[in-house]
Amino acid sequence: MADAYILGIESSCDETAAAVVRSGEQVISNVVASQIATHQPYGGVVPELASREHLRAIVPVVRQALAEAQRAYESIDAIAVTQGPGLAGALLVGISYAKALAFALDKPLIAVNHLEGHIHAVLLDLKQLDLKQLDLKHDEERQKGNRELQFPVLALVVSGGHTHLYLAAEKDDCWTYENIGHTRDDAAGEAFDKVAKLLGLGYPGGPVIDRLTAHGDATAVKFPPANIKHRDRRVRNRGEAASFDDEDRPRIDFSYSGIKTAVLRYVEAHNMREAIEKRRRALAGISKPSLEDYLAHCDRPTLDLVASFQRAMVEDLVGKTLAAAAAYDAATLLVTGGVAANQELRKTFENEGAQQGLPVYFPSRRLSTDNGAMIAAAAYPKFLARDFAPMDFSAEAGLILR
Ligand code: KG4
Ligand code: ZN
Repeated sequence: MADAYILGIESSCDETAAAVVRSGEQVISNVVASQIATHQPYGGVVPELASREHLRAIVPVVRQALAEAQRAYESIDAIAVTQGPGLAGALLVGISYAKALAFALDKPLIAVNHLEGHIHAVLLDLKQLDLKQLDLKHDEERQKGNRELQFPVLALVVSGGHTHLYLAAEKDDCWTYENIGHTRDDAAGEAFDKVAKLLGLGYPGGPVIDRLTAHGDATAVKFPPANIKHRDRRVRNRGEAASFDDEDRPRIDFSYSGIKTAVLRYVEAHNMREAIEKRRRALAGISKPSLEDYLAHCDRPTLDLVASFQRAMVEDLVGKTLAAAAAYDAATLLVTGGVAANQELRKTFENEGAQQGLPVYFPSRRLSTDNGAMIAAAAYPKFLARDFAPMDFSAEAGLILR
């Protein structure tokens, strides 16, 4: 099979991204234009601004991805684009541009689920590692060298918009997914972002909290475990799988709006408001605050609160996911999405996964957050199966992964 070069386009949230990936296994170029500066003053993503920024960035970003790959538009074999889930207006920008390119160049168009993209980010990194270890010239050995992932695979997609657990199986080289749990309210990344905003630490919250945690005492503040009272009737009404009610195969649900409220209560009970406002103003005046800048404007109680919050998030995510892995007899665990960049989360998953005899894989930090390479990689099995999208397909903000 000749090499296939796929252009992947991603615009579901606040990153305009494009990449060229060879045969689903090697990143040739990977360009990400972040909109962080645009949304920073609002402490979260503003959908209208996101669409406008995507419109500005999409053409230059795709052009740069091709230039860095040293590929002409005509030499691309297929164009892959995120169909959903995500912000409808933002998705439409990527989809419209991908359609225009596919039409003008007469190339196949492939619609990709953003969540499957995150899962393929992990596989892409594993394949790249294998490629590095082998002599690229020997195709046969290269095939043999491809790491055999053991199924069933459990995948935790944990980002600003999702905290979803999927049980994945392989069928004719394509993966199928069963959702076995998700958040009832806020996503884990959303909790990081909201708590950072609340503490005057800016946006996005995850990376700042990640770095500040080492400077605080994670045992200082105790957060009660998330208490999930009701079964999720919306899922049951959709009647997706009878096994949800089966006692042996429980649904694993997450909930992170409670911890955000607990942080708010702590802030109020400990009169931290004034210090937070001071910090907010000080950091707003610094264009790209360094760790030292953050530390200079954080007192001990704030650092302790941040570290305790992260510890509680990590314990909940790891505890529930590993319980799910045991309940579903998972042979491999993949952890992916923006929050998978978190250092404490990675370490804890690695240590506790090893104790359980469960191999755990993450994407590199570069491929953890939204990018086009993961979209191009997820498109490759569809390319092989000639599973192309019709020209009239549209964005699906709530697209489900199956
Ligand atoms: O996957 P992603 O780029 O976009 C979505 O699909 O949502 O994830 C972004 C999210 C944000 O909520 C951000 O705060 C979080 O990932 N994040 C982190 C870290 N880096 C990014 N959360 C915790 N620790 C990090 N190091
Ligand atoms: Zn994402």
